[in-house]
Amino acid sequence: MTATRPRKRPAASDRRAATESFYRDLVWNLQNGLLAVTRDGRIAVMNEVAYRTFGLQPTPDDIGRHFSDVLRDIPDVARIVAGGFEMSHLPNRAELRLKRTGKVIGYTMSQVKDPQGHVTGVTLFFKDLTRVEQLEERERLRDRLAALGEMAAAIAHEVKNPLAGIEVMAGLLKRQLSDNEDAQSILKDIIKEAKMANSIVIEVLDFVRPIRLQVEPVALPDVVRDAITTADSQVPRRGIKLSVDVPESLPPIEGDKHQLRQLFANLLANAFEALGGEGSVRISATQRAVEEDVGGPAEGKSVAMLEIEVVDNGPGIPPDLIDRVFSPFFTTKPQGTGLGLAIVRKIVDAHDGRIDVTVGPDTGTRFVVTVPVNGNYKLFG
Ligand SMILES: Nc1ncnc2c1ncn2[C@@H]1O[C@H](COP(=O)(O)OP(=O)(O)OP(=O)(O)O)[C@@H](O)[C@H]1O
Ligand SMILES: [Mg+2]
Repeated sequence: MTATRPRKRPAASDRRAATESFYRDLVWNLQNGLLAVTRDGRIAVMNEVAYRTFGLQPTPDDIGRHFSDVLRDIPDVARIVAGGFEMSHLPNRAELRLKRTGKVIGYTMSQVKDPQGHVTGVTLFFKDLTRVEQLEERERLRDRLAALGEMAAAIAHEVKNPLAGIEVMAGLLKRQLSDNEDAQSILKDIIKEAKMANSIVIEVLDFVRPIRLQVEPVALPDVVRDAITTADSQVPRRGIKLSVDVPESLPPIEGDKHQLRQLFANLLANAFEALGGEGSVRISATQRAVEEDVGGPAEGKSVAMLEIEVVDNGPGIPPDLIDRVFSPFFTTKPQGTGLGLAIVRKIVDAHDGRIDVTVGPDTGTRFVVTVPVNGNYKLFG
């Protein structure tokens, strides 16, 4: 007969191992980034958020390697870690923009000390502030637009009436001088110019007015179809080939269909203008799941996004101008107002999305709009 062995308490070494593995999991899963380096410069701890924020892939032998080796491509972080052993006052709540990923981190450094008070290591504890920065940037844009809006509204008010007066009086004169051919042609030009100035005033007012979204479920294929019609009415397409790949199966977006139509119409109109009658434009959409940045409102959750691309094979945008294309009134076209992309940007922001532009040597210009399927917004002004 075999006696059942009494259940033994786990040995002290087993308990220690269990605790150690618990600590490892705890540190690895922290919502903040953690990096710890021992006195001799070896990495003791680097957790998941740290890898993700630095844009590094974990490898099993990172722990124990020298930090300058592991952080070779993140010299800005390596520099502050190195400084951590020397500084008497360590930074608390400092900020750093990582050159490699463009992310902004808010960090605190501490020294690890043994019971005798000797420094045995340093730790860097940080949070990804990129999302916070984006929100602040949007807030600043909102303030700027509000100031610009007040000024533009005041100017428009002053200009609108005299403009209407010019148009009406030129019309009267045109009728009175109906048999004077020279006067007819000059007055026709005056009326045309006054009309154009008036449409600029209307456009400016439109731009500075806060966007109030009429949110409803919007089918992207319908929006794109309408946007193509609008763009076609603004810029003749002539020999330009347009291909559309926007599957009907995409989920509807919670958004404002008129604003979204305007957004894609502006991008398409620009592409048509850039091509000047020949070339190709492609508009396509795909669904993607994007993990929210740490620190964002949906921290750690995966958010359904639609990514819509408008690509042309035109001349592209010179590198020194690319940062300015979204600024109000920036234009390289003789008849342009320079508000098309500023409005695009505003509509994208109002939908809690983002827009990126890239220019390749052969691919012309590529605009990528990313919008959440389920937004959480009502007003952006
Ligand atoms: N697809 C593109 N290819 C090349 N350049 C582009 C493209 N889209 C925009 N641009 C550049 O960006 C500038 C700004 O575009 P934006 O739409 O804001 O104004 P615009 O087209 O000049 O005038 P508006 O749209 O108000 O009539 C353009 O003048 C052009 O230089
Ligand atoms: Mg435009």
